[in-house]
Amino acid sequence: MGRVDGKQVFITGGAQGLGACFAQMLAAEGAKVFVTDVNAAGAEETAAEINAKFPGVASSCHHDVTSRDDWKTALKSAADFMGGISVLINNAGIGGWGNIETETDENWRRTMEIDVDSIFYGTQLAMPYLIKSQPSSIINISSVAGMLADANMLSYNTAKAAVWMMSKSIALHCARSGYDIRSNSVHPVFTRTPIIDPLIQFGGGGDEGEKKLVRQIPLKRLGEPEDVGYCVLYLASDESRYVTASEFKIDGGITAQ
Ligand SMILES: NC(=O)c1ccc[n+]([C@@H]2O[C@H](COP(=O)([O-])OP(=O)(O)OC[C@H]3O[C@@H](n4cnc5c(N)ncnc54)[C@H](O)[C@@H]3O)[C@@H](O)[C@H]2O)c1
Repeated sequence: MGRVDGKQVFITGGAQGLGACFAQMLAAEGAKVFVTDVNAAGAEETAAEINAKFPGVASSCHHDVTSRDDWKTALKSAADFMGGISVLINNAGIGGWGNIETETDENWRRTMEIDVDSIFYGTQLAMPYLIKSQPSSIINISSVAGMLADANMLSYNTAKAAVWMMSKSIALHCARSGYDIRSNSVHPVFTRTPIIDPLIQFGGGGDEGEKKLVRQIPLKRLGEPEDVGYCVLYLASDESRYVTASEFKIDGGITAQ
């Protein structure tokens, strides 16, 4: 028996990084997975790697999370492929540098669109599917940056804090409506995926740049995608059936300081 046997998982931003890792870990524990990304070839590759190990378990499609129309098409394809959708993982996201004096309208809007608006559109459109497939779970990938501010992460801090609160509001609505649908947020610290490459470059690149990030973390290493994946696996499974409106910090202790 896998920990998520029979679960039907929709994952955004699954072409690489955390999303690809979540898809692989969930498939290995018995779930069907539908992987989406603006990088359609990358999403297809993630699904192909999974199907090579677990035939027929994964599929994928092109999906820009800022488009309501794309959401409608992707959700319908996923439900057709998996027989429903019981887990929604809102993972697609972008970083971005800028302080209150340097931030541009364009970067601000782009960050809000991809990191925040997408979760509003997608979760709203996924609700009928999640209701049909109860018990269901919504997992929103926020960040420690939603809890700890940085002078140069104006839009990212704001976006990820919004994701944190949006997850709670959704959770309370579902509970009040009598739905067995849970909603929680996950808050990783620097984790080894392409999204942190600019931060490593900013710190001097290579080992030197990585050391500068690690210095801030009590456990003295970067997170690995699997560190976050184990939390996502728990939230996708019925092991977390009494857990909703909560936040999960996968942060090597950084937020305790
Ligand atoms: N890696 C970290 O250190 C870290 C820390 C905290 C939070 N996060 C969050 O985790 C999530 C995953 O990040 P990651 O580290 O895997 O980064 P990543 O850059 O490796 O992957 C992000 C994926 O999202 C996709 N994407 C971007 N814009 C999209 C759009 N408009 N529509 C659909 N897909 C889109 C990209 O193509 C990419 O495949 C993000 O929300 C990120 O903010 C990451």
